[in-house]
Amino acid sequence: MIEIVRDRVNELTDKYDNKRENLLCILEELGQEYGFLDETIVNEVARAFNISQTEVFSVASFYHFLNTKPIGKYVIRLCRTITCDLAGKDKILSALESELDIKMGETTHDKKYTLDYANCMGMCDKGSAMMVNDDIYDQLTPSRAVEIIKSYK
Ligand code: FES
Repeated sequence: MIEIVRDRVNELTDKYDNKRENLLCILEELGQEYGFLDETIVNEVARAFNISQTEVFSVASFYHFLNTKPIGKYVIRLCRTITCDLAGKDKILSALESELDIKMGETTHDKKYTLDYANCMGMCDKGSAMMVNDDIYDQLTPSRAVEIIKSYK
C-alpha cells in the first residue's frame, strides 16, 4: 500500500510540482481517489513536499471537502458559523443526531451517513444551512433537516 501511495503522490508532484501552493489540489485529488486521507497518504505527501505531517494534516482537516477518516455515502455538513449558530444550529444538530443515532463527527454503522460540521457556506441570510454531499439546504428547522436526510436513500 505504501508503495502504491508513494507512486501516486510522486505522479501528482511531477504533474503539479511540489510547491506549497499546490498542496491543496494534490490533497483534493488524493481524497477523491482514496475516499479519505489516511496516515499513509499524509506521511507520503509530507515526504514529497518536505514538510511535517502536522502541516499536511492541518490543511487536510481544515477544508470540509477533505476527509481524514472514512466517511459515509452521504456526508451531512452542518454550518457552525455564528449566524447559523444563532439561527438554531444546536436544535438541528440534536434532531439529526437523534434521527441517525450517531454523534457529531461519526458515521452510521451502515456507512450511509456521516455527520460533520462545516464553516460558513454563504447562506447566512437564510440560515441555518447544511450540505449533503454537494447539495446545499437553507432555512432549516429540525424537522426539515430530518426530512431532507431521509430523502437520501
Ligand atoms: S453562517 Fe452559516 S451559511 Fe453563513
